[in-house]
Amino acid sequence: MTTIRVAAAGDIHAGAGDGDRVREAFERVGEQADLVLLAGDLTQHGQVDEVCVVADACRELEIPVVAVLGNHDWQSDRPDDLRRALSEAGVVILDRSHTILPVCGVSVGVAGVKGFVGGFAQQWANFGEPLFREAYAETTRDVDGLDQSLAAIEPCGIRIALLHYSPVEATLIGEPERLWLVLGADRLAGPIRRHRPDLVVHGHAHHGSFEGEVEGVPVYNVAVHVTGRDFWIFELEARSLRTDDLAEPAPRARPVELDE
Ligand SMILES: [Fe+2]
Ligand SMILES: [Fe+2]
Repeated sequence: MTTIRVAAAGDIHAGAGDGDRVREAFERVGEQADLVLLAGDLTQHGQVDEVCVVADACRELEIPVVAVLGNHDWQSDRPDDLRRALSEAGVVILDRSHTILPVCGVSVGVAGVKGFVGGFAQQWANFGEPLFREAYAETTRDVDGLDQSLAAIEPCGIRIALLHYSPVEATLIGEPERLWLVLGADRLAGPIRRHRPDLVVHGHAHHGSFEGEVEGVPVYNVAVHVTGRDFWIFELEARSLRTDDLAEPAPRARPVELDE
């Protein structure tokens, strides 16, 4: 059985002057992991010079980097410019989409959505003024995008869901409950429950908790404020042939402690 090391970080919030710090962190992780996941909020205010700090750090890496944008990356209304800068550096940007990468001989599928607001236990209903209904519809588009993307990576040896907003309450514990409405949405858990990926990571909740689950599917809040380190590394064991062997127990993601 092949073990893959996946390094994940959310909420790097790079500023234009953070080049040295970010480059050093990525250099270290390039030696420790087989794949890097960035769970949104790569920048402070969605500026191109900020995202170039991350893009430059990724450009030199020999391992693949997959990212979703976060709400901060939209702040300057230049998401396309950010995506372009990251893509030119070799980063795979997901937005209600998926990628399948060969990693150490294993097909690793990543389904990525930013996610959006909505809260938990029907805090936000599809009701009222057009702006409220549009926000509900935006989250619905992310739910549908996640569902389709997870379906598309079903045959992969390892399957990961990458989000910015949280699909569960457990990883928000520590944040004031009045903010949970804008920190995640339980509707995002529907596709996770249905497709049962091996690992779910998100960010966004800087004061939240590290570990949660959706009916046994492990969910981790990898915001650097929560993990307390540049990247958290997970070990995942691939199953050799998913399509023929779906009855086999799902591989478990295991967070591992590494010395910085
Ligand atoms: Fe953030
Ligand atoms: Fe955020």
